[in-house]
Amino acid sequence: MRVLVTGAAGFIGSTTAELLLDLGDEVVALDNLVRGRRDNVPARAVFVEGDVGDVDLVSSLGAFDACVHFAARIEPADSMREPETFFANNVAQSFSLLEALVRSGTPKFVFSSSCAVYGNQVEMPIDESRATSPHSPYGETKLMVEQGLRWMAQRGRIRSASLRYFNAAGSTLAHPERHDPEIHLIPLALDAVRGRREFLSVYGTDYPTRDGTCVRDYVHVSDLADAHVRAIHALDHHDSLTLNLGTGTGSSIFEVLDSVRRVTGREVPIRLEDRRPGDPAEAVASQLLSRERLGWTPRSSGLDEIVADAWSARQTL
Ligand SMILES: NC(=O)c1ccc[n+]([C@@H]2O[C@H](COP(=O)([O-])OP(=O)(O)OC[C@H]3O[C@@H](n4cnc5c(N)ncnc54)[C@H](O)[C@@H]3O)[C@@H](O)[C@H]2O)c1
Repeated sequence: MRVLVTGAAGFIGSTTAELLLDLGDEVVALDNLVRGRRDNVPARAVFVEGDVGDVDLVSSLGAFDACVHFAARIEPADSMREPETFFANNVAQSFSLLEALVRSGTPKFVFSSSCAVYGNQVEMPIDESRATSPHSPYGETKLMVEQGLRWMAQRGRIRSASLRYFNAAGSTLAHPERHDPEIHLIPLALDAVRGRREFLSVYGTDYPTRDGTCVRDYVHVSDLADAHVRAIHALDHHDSLTLNLGTGTGSSIFEVLDSVRRVTGREVPIRLEDRRPGDPAEAVASQLLSRERLGWTPRSSGLDEIVADAWSARQTL
């Protein structure tokens, strides 16, 4: 296959591009490097620097068998401060990209959506039939693209899979998680352990969870990459898919910090802070539908493996 991977200089895009290349596919990696890093793009991919919303640029790349669209601004807190930037980048540019892809006859589109579309849910696990209610402009951008994609599939323009990731974590050695600024718990905790930051802030210890801290569903980035490849193939049989990608198991912040202690042998220095607005107490995926539609179940054995892989990769930075 010839696959366009947008956001391939970022964390999940680079890992997925590497897997596609390992499987013998041709990868064109498109990224404007606003957040990602050039050295994160797999060497075997053809790299194109530019905006996904640049219709002339995307059109000049020719037709693809599929596009996997990771490129986005991903920081919910920033989206609260400057929503317009997020709607312009994540929504407007996504539809410009889609316009160019439809014009070139690209038949399949796999979209990085997020559990942020669900907002604050009380019943766990969350399945795909749950009413959506994003709590941030970031989550809303994901939902808006999903909705446009469903219309486009219904009108026979392009087939698509919207994959709602829960918390992407772990790493491969070649592509460590490296957001700038880093906003994710495990790399922040590992940096606190190795003295790259003074402490880890824990936001809220009075949530209605088993130990008072937020519970999240951490899924290994290698498993996410695998699900994307499966989604491309599943679009041979489906016009439109909307699927959760998670493990079905939640871990609290304190449970993650216990895992970091087991893996590194060191205690994470923490500072307890107030809750952050908009953080749901719990977000755990039902994975029944993705198992059924993609034949996908995470291969990673759980949190300790995720943290151990993240730790190995982090030490290369
Ligand atoms: N990391 C997570 O836990 C998580 C969870 C749910 C959903 N997602 C989604 O997965 C996708 C990838 O996340 P990530 O963690 O790899 O993020 P990342 O920031 O590491 O990668 C995103 C990449 O997109 C590029 N980019 C952004 N806007 C662009 C544009 N307009 N044109 C071209 N390139 C652009 C950035 O330079 C960056 O390299 C995002 O869409 C994100 O919303 C991530």
